[in-house]
This record gives sequence, structure tokens and C-alpha cells, in this order.
Amino acid sequence: MELQTSHRLLIYHSDSKIYEEILSKRLPQLKIHSAVRPKEALDFIQEAEIILAWQIPDEVLKRARQLKWFSSIGAGNEDLVKNPHLPETVLLTKATVYGEMMAEYVFAYLLYFTRNVAKHMRDQRKKVWDQMRPLRLRGKVLGILGLGSVGKEIAKRGKQFGMKVLGVKRVPKPVENVDRVFGTDDLTKMIPLVDYLINVLPLTPETYHILGEKELRLMKEGAFFFSIGRGKTIDEKALKRVLQTKKIQAVLDVFEKEPLSPKSELWDLRNVIITPHVSGINLPEEICEEFVRNFKRWAGGEPLNNLVDREKGY
Ligand code: OXD
Repeated sequence: MELQTSHRLLIYHSDSKIYEEILSKRLPQLKIHSAVRPKEALDFIQEAEIILAWQIPDEVLKRARQLKWFSSIGAGNEDLVKNPHLPETVLLTKATVYGEMMAEYVFAYLLYFTRNVAKHMRDQRKKVWDQMRPLRLRGKVLGILGLGSVGKEIAKRGKQFGMKVLGVKRVPKPVENVDRVFGTDDLTKMIPLVDYLINVLPLTPETYHILGEKELRLMKEGAFFFSIGRGKTIDEKALKRVLQTKKIQAVLDVFEKEPLSPKSELWDLRNVIITPHVSGINLPEEICEEFVRNFKRWAGGEPLNNLVDREKGY
């Protein structure tokens, strides 16, 4: 099918040139303008029908008078959902490409712990031969908070490792690779059952601080907590208190305020691993692939994939 020509796309991102290079080859009919700074976007924003971006300054967005579709590079779009400069008449889509990469992050650390990687590296430096028995993932219980595109990829890998997989979803209904799905109201029933609790809940008014001291204290002794979705779904002060007083471990990639302040006591806790919001990070090839598919639908008048439900907030 010959696609209609001269649709106008603004790409706003620190890697906008990379996106432009890919998309100009895939969709030569599209008029593309790429920008890294607001000044560069302002030249084009008035004519843009589509924006491909993660976050975009309000001074740019509010001038987007012809905007019909905001194709977000992010998985979680809590700020865009409530942005007054993005009216409901503008379609908002999210990226659903981060699941594999974020699942790799989770399993990198799960295997790091079960295969005693840190201990063997320490032993090597001391020339010590100690055949410490590894733990197995098989038979362990993985609990996933949030069963969207990311949670489902984690569940799939959990099953491949022979784990029992539990999950929490706003409206509980069967999900492939998940042995039991709990509703958000039953979160506290699932938490005590799991060895590894992975939080990928989107941030909405309902999930803000959904994990407080009471919920986190329900974790089993020796369990692991992973935070890779949105920091604000956890009461960080409560998390710190629980980590200081309970025998659990945490791998934290997202925080209430990012970058995490150097003053945060979380940095110094021995039972915590901190990474700088890298579990799922900018994937231009995959994002463009998803964009091209959706662009063809949009240009052909078909409903878009991965629309954000403004009401639900994700
Ligand atoms: C996202 C993120 O939501 O990077 O895409 O956190």
C-alpha cells in the first residue's frame, strides 16, 4: 500500500539523530524533524502531527497545535497522562519493548545471588577453593507486581527456570506463565509467599506508595525485593527502615526522586544493590520498529496499538 505522504513527525530525544536515521530509511515519505533541545524543536512544533519523545518540555508541547498522536518512548507515562498541554483528543501510545531487557536485568541479579558470584570473585582474589553449594531458582517463588508487557516477560523467564510464578494485576484474570494472579487488593496475601518480589507496577494515584512498611514487612526472611518500575510506588523511608531491621535484600533501580541523592542512606546499606535506572533503557531499533508498525496503522486509519488508557493512567 502506498502510504500518504507528508505527515510531519517531531522526534525529541537526546538520541534523536539515531531515531531520525532509522526512521528516514523506513518511512521516507515522512517529514521528520529531530531535536535535542527546546530551541531546535520550536522551529517545527507548530506543524508537527506526531511527536516521538520520552519527556518534552511544556514550552514545546503547548505549541503543538496540530498534534494528533504522541508516541511515547517510555513504558510508564504518568507525567504525560496528566499534562494539561496534551489534550484527550491527542492519541497517546506507550512503548512496550522494554520487557526482555528488564527481565534480563532481573535474572542477572537472581543468578548473581544464587550462583554466589560475589563470593567466588572474593575467593579467587584470595586463591581460595571453596565449593559453596549454589541455590537453585527451580522451585522458588517469583512474585511479580504488575503484569503488563514487562511483568509478562519476567514471568516467562521465571517459568523457563522452573519457578513458581505468582503475580498481581489490578483486575485479576489468568495470565500466561503465571500460576496464580491476585488482585491489587490481595497484594498482602501474595507478598508472604514469595522468595523474589519484583515490583513493576505503573505509577497511578492508586499505586502511589502502595508498598509501605506494613506490606514490606510481610516479606519472608531472606527474600529479595526488586524495584524496577516506578520509585514512587514504594514509600522509600519505610523501605529503608525495613531493610535496616529485617533480613531481606533489595535490588533498586528506581527511586522516589532521581538521581538518588548522595545523602540517601540507601547507598550504604549492605543488603542493597543500587543501579541508576538502567534496567530498561533507550532501545532505538526496537522503538522505531514499534513506531513504524503503528505509523502504518495510523496512516491507514486503523486503531493504534499500545494506546495509553488516560483513565487508568497507563
Ligand atoms: C520507562 C522508563 O517508563 O524508562 O520507559 O522508566
